[in-house]
This record gives sequence, structure tokens and C-alpha cells, in this order.
Amino acid sequence: MIQTEEMEFAPRVIAPENIPEDGDIEVTLRPQTLHDYIGQEKVKEKIAIYIEAAKRRGEPLDHVLLYGPPGLGKTTLSAIIAHELGVNLRVTTGPAIEKPGDLVSLLTSLNDNDVLFIDEIHRLSRAVEEILYPALEDRVIDIIIGKGPSARSIRMDLKPFTLIGATTRAGQLSAPLRDRFGVIERLELYSKENLTDIVRRSAMILGIPCETDGAAEIAGRARGTPRIANRLLKRVRDFADVMGNGQITQEIASIALSRLEIDQLGLDSLDRRMLDMIIKGYGGGPVGLETLAAAIGEESVTLEDVCEPFLMQLGFLGRTPRGRQATRLAYEHLGYTPPEQAASPDTGQLSFNA
Ligand code: ADE
Repeated sequence: MIQTEEMEFAPRVIAPENIPEDGDIEVTLRPQTLHDYIGQEKVKEKIAIYIEAAKRRGEPLDHVLLYGPPGLGKTTLSAIIAHELGVNLRVTTGPAIEKPGDLVSLLTSLNDNDVLFIDEIHRLSRAVEEILYPALEDRVIDIIIGKGPSARSIRMDLKPFTLIGATTRAGQLSAPLRDRFGVIERLELYSKENLTDIVRRSAMILGIPCETDGAAEIAGRARGTPRIANRLLKRVRDFADVMGNGQITQEIASIALSRLEIDQLGLDSLDRRMLDMIIKGYGGGPVGLETLAAAIGEESVTLEDVCEPFLMQLGFLGRTPRGRQATRLAYEHLGYTPPEQAASPDTGQLSFNA
């Protein structure tokens, strides 16, 4: 299990980061093959071809960069890729590789065609990144021995391997690193239909009786994210056990999710606080991200990585060079009357209908 370092003290039930409470459940629920992996069809189709081609040629798969919001299954997909290739997977994270030597020992411990997975790859230090360039390009590493005038560089060959990097922030990756990935794929938020299938599959694995409508209710409020859907499933099960007969129905799911303050569209109290502050505090925006984060007492990265992708997908939030603004739809969802010049959801730009 990978844990992020920026965990909140009291994690939100719909925080997409992996939190300790998830325990090993993620691992239990993780599909092992591309066939069992639900959604992300376009990415899956392409990856299946690349895997087959690499296997036929007996070569390692080209290096892969997976990016997109947290909780969408980047780690899961990497484990599947290694499994389908029939090779070992080594899992680590950018911040865990502190020194160049840490990366050298990881790289030299790989067997032929193994997969090395680095989560949060945008957080690698410069010094570590520099070891990675020749490793990715020419399968060699340059080790400096000694210091000062007597320092010597020794070149070491590596076995063929595949690096899979994952990041929520592709834009923060340096250009030289990004350019060394042959395959770059963005994972998208999941459709409600896909999430419903994921909830039903998880319920079956965990032995939770779950009606399709109940699964759909959870899916509709899981903000496009399997990790959140699976966590909500566990919470709703608690309500079903205590308030009902253990069966997850639409009614029980709806009651449970309302108690968790997750609304019909999946917004939680932080999403609503963010929109509320833009609307009431800043006249609907635009307002800069840092200002907004300070105003509601939240980290700007949380707003940017977690709230914004979802609110933008709903068409509730516009991003402009001058800052964030609430759209007409956001006003309406929160029960406010939108002003004449409220931003339209499609462009994030102001529309003047006067
Ligand atoms: N569990 C978490 N993500 C999943 C996915 N994409 N498919 C199937 N099960 C999952």
C-alpha cells in the first residue's frame, strides 16, 4: 500500500488519497488483469497492444507515464501491466528516493524486463532525476566515486527494465524527464456506469449484499473515483448493518451518504466551502487559488488536485488567468441566484447576457 505524505489529520471520507483506514482493502479489491480492470477503455486498449508487442519481441515495455487525479488506479494499472508482462514489480514513491544511491540500488536490483513503479514522480529530487536520464535512455548509470580532483565516474550497465511513473501533476515534471517516456497516458475520472460496476464487483468480493440501485447511488456520489467509491461502500455497509438487514439498497445508501454530508452530485463539505467562499466572499470570482485556500484554511494543493478536477468536470468551476470563478451551475446547485454575468460552465469565461 502506498501512502501519501500530505495526509490530513482527520481524513475526509471522500479524500482520494490512500488513508490508513483503507487498510489492505485496496489490495484485496485490486483487479489483477486488464480484463478485470473496469473503465479507462482507451488507455487499456493501447496498453494491451504495447504489452503484447513487447512480449512478442521479448523486449521490455517502453517507459510509461500515467497521470491524472488521485485514486483513479495508477498503481493498480501498473501492477496489472507487470502481471500481464509476467515480470516483477517494484513499487516506490518520488519522495522515498532521497539520495541518488537509493535509486542506484533499486535499479541494480531489477531483473530482466522488470517494472519499476515510481508514484509521485514529480517529487524526485534533481540529483536523483539525473541518475534516471541515462538509465532510461541508454540503460546505464554513471556512478561518481570519490570527491574533488580525484573523483572518477564509473559507467554501469543495467538490465532491460520498464519505468512506470505516476503523477497527479504532469505539468510539474521536467521536460527532459517527460521526454524519456515513450507512452504517456492520462487517466480520466470514471463514468457513473463504470463506478457502479466497480462497486458491485467490490461488494461481491467483500461478500456485501448490494442491489444495483444501491451500487449506483454510491457510484453517483463518488466523484468519478474508484478509491472513493470503495471507501463509501464500506461506510454504507455500516449503515446497512445497523439500520437495515445488511443489504445495501438505494434508500440505505442515500441515507448513509447524506449523513456523511456528501450531496447528490458527490460534493462534500470542502467542495461546498470552496464554492461558497468564491461566491459569497469574492462575488463569484475570479479569485487566486492561494487567496482562496487561505480564506477557507485549506492547502492549495488539496483544492487543486482534489476539488478542482471534479468541480471543473461538473462545470461548476472555471479557471482563468486571473483565478477561479464559480459558474452559473455552481450558484444554482448551492441554491443561490446567479448574477446576470455569472460564468458559463463550458468555457469558464464570463458570459454577459444583459
Ligand atoms: N477497483 C479499483 N479500481 C478498479 C477498476 N478500475 N476496475 C476494477 N476494480 C477496481
